[in-house]
Amino acid sequence: MTRAEEIENRLRLLVNFGGVVSKETNLTRLLELIAEQVKAIINCDRCSVFILDRRTNELWSKVALGMQHTEIRVPFGKGIAGHVASSGQILNIPDAYQDARFNHDLDRLTGYRTRSILAAPLRNVSGHIIGVFEAMNKAGQGFNVDDEGILQLISSLAASGIENAQLYESLSKSQLETIYRLAVTAEYRDQHDTAIHLRHISEYSALIAHGLGLPEREIENIRYSSPLHDIGKVGIADAILLKPGKLTADEFEEMKKHTVYGAKILCNAESALLQIACKVAASHHEKFDGTGYPARLKGEQIPVYARVVSVADVFDALCMQRVYKPKWDPEKARQYINEESGKSFDPAVVEAFEKVYDDILKMHMAGDGKTTIIPGITREINRHIY
Ligand code: C2E
Ligand code: SIN
Ligand code: SIN
Ligand code: FE
Repeated sequence: MTRAEEIENRLRLLVNFGGVVSKETNLTRLLELIAEQVKAIINCDRCSVFILDRRTNELWSKVALGMQHTEIRVPFGKGIAGHVASSGQILNIPDAYQDARFNHDLDRLTGYRTRSILAAPLRNVSGHIIGVFEAMNKAGQGFNVDDEGILQLISSLAASGIENAQLYESLSKSQLETIYRLAVTAEYRDQHDTAIHLRHISEYSALIAHGLGLPEREIENIRYSSPLHDIGKVGIADAILLKPGKLTADEFEEMKKHTVYGAKILCNAESALLQIACKVAASHHEKFDGTGYPARLKGEQIPVYARVVSVADVFDALCMQRVYKPKWDPEKARQYINEESGKSFDPAVVEAFEKVYDDILKMHMAGDGKTTIIPGITREINRHIY
């Protein structure tokens, strides 16, 4: 290969890489995928990804032993990987066995003979180190300056994918249920069928996000954060929230604060998912033309998560009965959504809504077919409230 061909080949692989890592949400499969891609792009024999475990201050990695994968852990600060994690500097080592920092245990375990190592830190968007990338045994010679640049670029592309996959790994079924319960607690005062409503918001939002062509992990982010959009209603007095008629101007001003309350409840959370939920809670009543509340954000200033949830929320609110309004026919609600394109809603999101409308309608018609997710919260409770 000429140098020009080599560069072109690498560019093609790099462009492909971004697409590949943004789609995989399973952490183990993602790490395997990344390792494979790095080997092809850097043209080396092996690639390991070490992930930092902050609770134990260790780096862990999966290594292949025969047919099996074993998790290995090294202390933060030990070995080449540990050194890179603690210093934050890339290391290019032509001969590992000549380097005192090299930890031989891994080679002993795997029977592999490490020669050259190129190791780069993995940083998340906030710049924190979340792990280390190691490329090993470059074909022919050691790693060069081009390889260093490329490994750094790959690390930055891979980091957000890895962080997201870690997030889903850490979300157990029971945590998702907790999110739902939290949301139900906030809303069961003002809606007869809160569980159905939340399920609808979640599914409509995910469908629209899909129609918009967002990557899989953004769709999942929206699916799981959207049920919390109205959590701030816990801070609104019954006299306003449950008022059977139209709100006065003052009452509506008070009602608007549910967005700010919701953001306050969620914004200090550490979980990346709850950070997104915070944005949704804060901005789901902003309007695309800048006339919404609470901050009068406009267009792209409104996080895409909130632009999606806002269409799902209004469609669902229109199709359901409220203490203050009868339910609308879905076709009339759909028409309203379209009329508000470019005013209340992002035209691209309305277009996506139209694209998946048949599935949304199916969901709407299915009614309470899938509400078993929240055992214990039944219509009995809602009836008691009303
Ligand atoms: P919600 O009932 O979940 O409604 C969410 C959004 O759906 C509303 O946001 C609005 O954009 C849309 N929407 C709902 N019903 C209608 C309708 O009949 N016509 C139109 N054009 N749009 C509708 P909005 O207006 O910012 O209200 C936020 C929340 O404030 C509502 O959530 C509801 O809890 C409360 N709210 C608003 N208006 C009244 C009211 O007149 N009486 C009472 N009791 N509550 C109200
Ligand atoms: C180390 O980080 O020192 C071990 C490198 C390896 O063999 O992966
Ligand atoms: C959802 O499906 O919308 C969230 C709840 C779950 O699947 O566990
Ligand atoms: Fe709201």
